[in-house]
Amino acid sequence: MEQVVQAAQVLRDRIGDFQPEIGMILGSGLGIMAEKVASPIVIPYTEIPGFPGSTVKGHAGNLVFGELAGRKVAVMQGRFHYYEGHSIQTLAFPVRVMQQLGVTMLMVTNAAGTCNPGFKPGDLMLIRDHINFAFNNPLMGPNLADLGPRFPDASSAYSPRLQEVARKVAAGQGIQLQEGTYQFNTGPSYETPAEVRMARTLGADAVGMSTVPEVIAAVHCGIEVIGISFISNLAAGISGEALSHKEVLEQIQVVKDKFIGLVQGVVEKM
Ligand code: HPA
Repeated sequence: MEQVVQAAQVLRDRIGDFQPEIGMILGSGLGIMAEKVASPIVIPYTEIPGFPGSTVKGHAGNLVFGELAGRKVAVMQGRFHYYEGHSIQTLAFPVRVMQQLGVTMLMVTNAAGTCNPGFKPGDLMLIRDHINFAFNNPLMGPNLADLGPRFPDASSAYSPRLQEVARKVAAGQGIQLQEGTYQFNTGPSYETPAEVRMARTLGADAVGMSTVPEVIAAVHCGIEVIGISFISNLAAGISGEALSHKEVLEQIQVVKDKFIGLVQGVVEKM
């Protein structure tokens, strides 16, 4: 908790009286959203105590404060992943710092493979629920009672109110928004076809390697969450083709405008 408070203080010294209301965590190749932030104050993760540097291609490492769609935002341009070797508590850290800065809503985005035969690459999926398949949880250890309860309710981890906002915005923009359950697997190896069949059997629509630790941290400290997955590929074994990170990054270029439009529209109305 001391570290959270300290990081928040370092940031407050940099941003003055700017108070972000919406936090944003952007996934693979989606860091482009941060470039849309007006009057940005860009703070490299390396200058924030407790933030490790980001190590993955396609993930810049900056916390960007400014205005997006007329709202005050704090955007994580690049995120930390469990598979990078960070502890799962480290992944919760930025969310907790944002909460201390006044953030009450969080938008999380990620790239994901789909195991729902009705979805296709290029689709956007509103996350309705998740399956934590990492068998670890950022809230393990002593509870930070200043932030939230020992046993937080996760029955509406993804805010029904914000889901409704996203549906309306998507409809208004003529975007077909898929909806479903995101399963968090640790990675960094992609799933095997057998694991993808298992995910489908368990009720997942998409599989990915991020998001869930941050969402759990947000739910714990009372932040309302909205999650959108960008479907970059059919999950392993579905098309029979091999998967690559390059393909994931290339696919985002194809639907970048649709994605930016939806995110901006939702931020404006959330
Ligand atoms: N599996 C896990 N993570 C991913 C995938 C996938 O198929 N695509 C993008 N991130």
